[in-house]
Amino acid sequence: MSDSEILPGLEGVMSYQTEFDLGQGDCVAGMKTLPDDSIDIVVTSPPYNLGINYQNYNDNLSSKDYLKWSLEWAGEVRRILKPEGSFFLNVGASPANPWMPHELALTLRDLFQLQNTIHWIKSITLELKESDPVSVGHFKPINSKRFLNDCHEFVFHFTKSGKVPVDRLAVGVPYADKSNIARWSHTEGKDKRCRGNNWHIPYETIASRSKDRPHPATFPVELARKCIQLHGRKPKALTMLDPFLGIGNAAVAAGETEIKKFFGFEIDEIYLEEAKKRLGV
Ligand SMILES: C[S@@+](CC[C@H](N)C(=O)[O-])C[C@H]1O[C@@H](n2cnc3c(N)ncnc32)[C@H](O)[C@@H]1O
Repeated sequence: MSDSEILPGLEGVMSYQTEFDLGQGDCVAGMKTLPDDSIDIVVTSPPYNLGINYQNYNDNLSSKDYLKWSLEWAGEVRRILKPEGSFFLNVGASPANPWMPHELALTLRDLFQLQNTIHWIKSITLELKESDPVSVGHFKPINSKRFLNDCHEFVFHFTKSGKVPVDRLAVGVPYADKSNIARWSHTEGKDKRCRGNNWHIPYETIASRSKDRPHPATFPVELARKCIQLHGRKPKALTMLDPFLGIGNAAVAAGETEIKKFFGFEIDEIYLEEAKKRLGV
């Protein structure tokens, strides 16, 4: 992608079949208005408590308060998630707070089963040939004598039972060795194998941070789209939620995959307006 191209969904107003119900305010209060067992998929990325400079939200709670609050909002997610639902939780760490994703996942173990741990790989170097490494994605300049560049985030796939069937081949990839197609009966003759849990999704290149990424901590539409596809089933029958909507990347993915109904909550009026603009609502 060239530097002049911009983020999907930011290039103009899109038109989707999905019914969007987006509310401004605290997501805990918002989720309390939704009935028990009513949501099929949650894809979300809460504030990481890493001191990120949001417009309004204070991203600097004590660790104890942050985890207490996480239990509160995730408790509402549990209540409204259907028994066969999927809750995809995207979180990253920072050198200053390397335990955070792990502490958060452990805190939620009383509410959910951790069915899959997906690694969102933003940048990677592959040594396909020993003498000729290939790098994909952006690598920040070296500015630390201690820490490696952090090139990945987690996507924890929580479910209520730990036994929810997913559609692995919906996000599958072709076999490198095509003889596997005939060798394994589960392929049913198709050139598709499981992608595994390392998902390489580079950030889209942007021309101008203020114009093209009016939010300091977004995930790519593609990440949310893959979560929807992995959950599987017929999107036109599904209800989806992002309690921390930001500028609406999960909602754009819902629109693109023709999810029936999407709920979103965002505390910040400016981010919510941006999301609405992108969705044409
Ligand atoms: C990591 S960002 C989510 C970005 C989003 N995934 C996207 O790609 O645009 C977290 C968002 O949660 C919002 N937020 C913080 N506290 C909230 C609350 N109690 N209820 C709803 N939204 C909240 C912040 O304003 C911020 O936009």
